[in-house]
Amino acid sequence: METRAASVDDAEGMGQVLREIIEHTGRQRPHDVEFVMGRYITNPTSIRCTIAIDEAGNVVGFQSLKKAAAENPYDTPEGWGIIGTHISPKFQRQGVGKLLFLSTREAALQAGLEKIDAYIGADNPSGLKYYDAMGFQTYRTPEGIVQKVCSL
Ligand SMILES: CC(C)(COP(=O)(O)OP(=O)(O)OC[C@H]1O[C@@H](n2cnc3c(N)ncnc32)[C@H](O)[C@@H]1OP(=O)(O)O)[C@@H](O)C(=O)NCCC(=O)NCCS
Repeated sequence: METRAASVDDAEGMGQVLREIIEHTGRQRPHDVEFVMGRYITNPTSIRCTIAIDEAGNVVGFQSLKKAAAENPYDTPEGWGIIGTHISPKFQRQGVGKLLFLSTREAALQAGLEKIDAYIGADNPSGLKYYDAMGFQTYRTPEGIVQKVCSL
C-alpha cells in the first residue's frame, strides 16, 4: 500500500471508493467525478488530499485536509483544518486510515495548523473509534453529530 497526493486522474477511482461506501452503509451522498473534483481535488481551501493505492494502482481510500474558511458548513472555527476520510469497505481495518493520517498530519504541520476538526455522524461507531485512535477528542455534539478535534 502506498500513499500520494491526489490528482485529476484519480477522481474516477475516488468516486468508486465513495460508491462502495454508499453500497456498504446505505448512506447516500454525492459520488460523481464532478463532485470529487470540486470537493477534493480543485477545492481552493484544500491543503492536501492524499490517496492510498494498492499494488495494482487502484485507489482504495483517501483523506482530505482543508482549511476552514470563515463560513463553512461544519461551523469549524476559521483557520482550523477540516479532515475527511473514505476507505473502501474491502480495505477497512487494515491500517489504511492510519497510513493516510501520517501524510495528513505532516501536511497540517507544514501548513502551520494548530487544530484539525473531524465532523462525524453520531451513528458511525467505526468513524468515531478511528478518530479516537488518531488522537482526536470530542469537543462539540450538535444533534446527530460528534465533532472531534486533534491538537497538533
Ligand atoms: C472509519 C475509517 C476511516 C477507518 O479507516 P480504516 O482504514 O479502516 O482504519 P485503520 O485500519 O487505519 O484503523 C486505525 C485504528 O482505528 C480504530 N478503528 C478503525 N476502525 C475501527 C472499527 N471499525 N472498530 C473499532 N476501532 C476501529 C482502531 O483503533 C484501529 O487500530 P487497530 O486496527 O490497530 O485496532 C473507515 O472505516 C471508513 O472509511 N469508513 C467509511 C467512511 C467513514 O465513516 N469516514 C469517517 C467518518 S466521516
